[in-house]
Amino acid sequence: MIFFIFPLLFLHFSSGQVLSLGKCPTNVQPMQDFNATQYLGEWYEYARYFAVFEFDGECVTATYGAGENGTVKIKNELRNGLLKNHLSITGIATFVESPTVAKLSVVFPSLPVRFAAPYWILKTDFDSYAVVWSCVQILVFNSQNTWILTRNRIPSKETLENAYNVLKTQNIANLLRKTNQKDC
Ligand SMILES: *[C@@H]1O[C@H](CO)[C@@H](O)[C@H](O)[C@H]1NC(C)=O
Ligand SMILES: *[C@@H]1O[C@H](CO)[C@@H](O)[C@H](O)[C@H]1NC(C)=O
Repeated sequence: MIFFIFPLLFLHFSSGQVLSLGKCPTNVQPMQDFNATQYLGEWYEYARYFAVFEFDGECVTATYGAGENGTVKIKNELRNGLLKNHLSITGIATFVESPTVAKLSVVFPSLPVRFAAPYWILKTDFDSYAVVWSCVQILVFNSQNTWILTRNRIPSKETLENAYNVLKTQNIANLLRKTNQKDC
């Protein structure tokens, strides 16, 4: 059974979340031959998980840079769909296992609650798409997020097919909703 909750702003800036009963799935695998250098640069959020009271972010971008000691610097930017004001937040991602296993942990130091959120890249070809997944256990629930990031603001059909195929391969529910990237 799946239902929806208000996005936990402090966990994931700009994202919807899907809450389900039970533990985080153990079959989901991060990419094993990852290369952070090739992942750096700008990405557009093509789609993210839907939530009823979604924080209405549009024109969402994520920019990744090389941080100290092999970390990845994150800058997320968006425009609020209602108020049209621009917001941004910076974070630091650290590799949990090794720099070739795309299992990272992200902290946003400016937030009042210092919370390390998982950030797993399930697959990317580095120059057209990336599928990112996160799951946190909260009591008897698990809260999941999935994002499709693309290098082009308007990606090709082929790029999207490749991205959505990752969801199928990894058995992840396609509850993604397209992010508005028009008139940005
Ligand atoms: C990662 O990619 C960069 C840029 O293409 C390359 O120079 C580097 O050798 C790669 N690192 C590994 C471990 O393959
Ligand atoms: C990087 O690693 C060095 C040595 O472990 C440490 O002294 C330094 O504080 C680290 N820098 C950051 C930003 O964590």
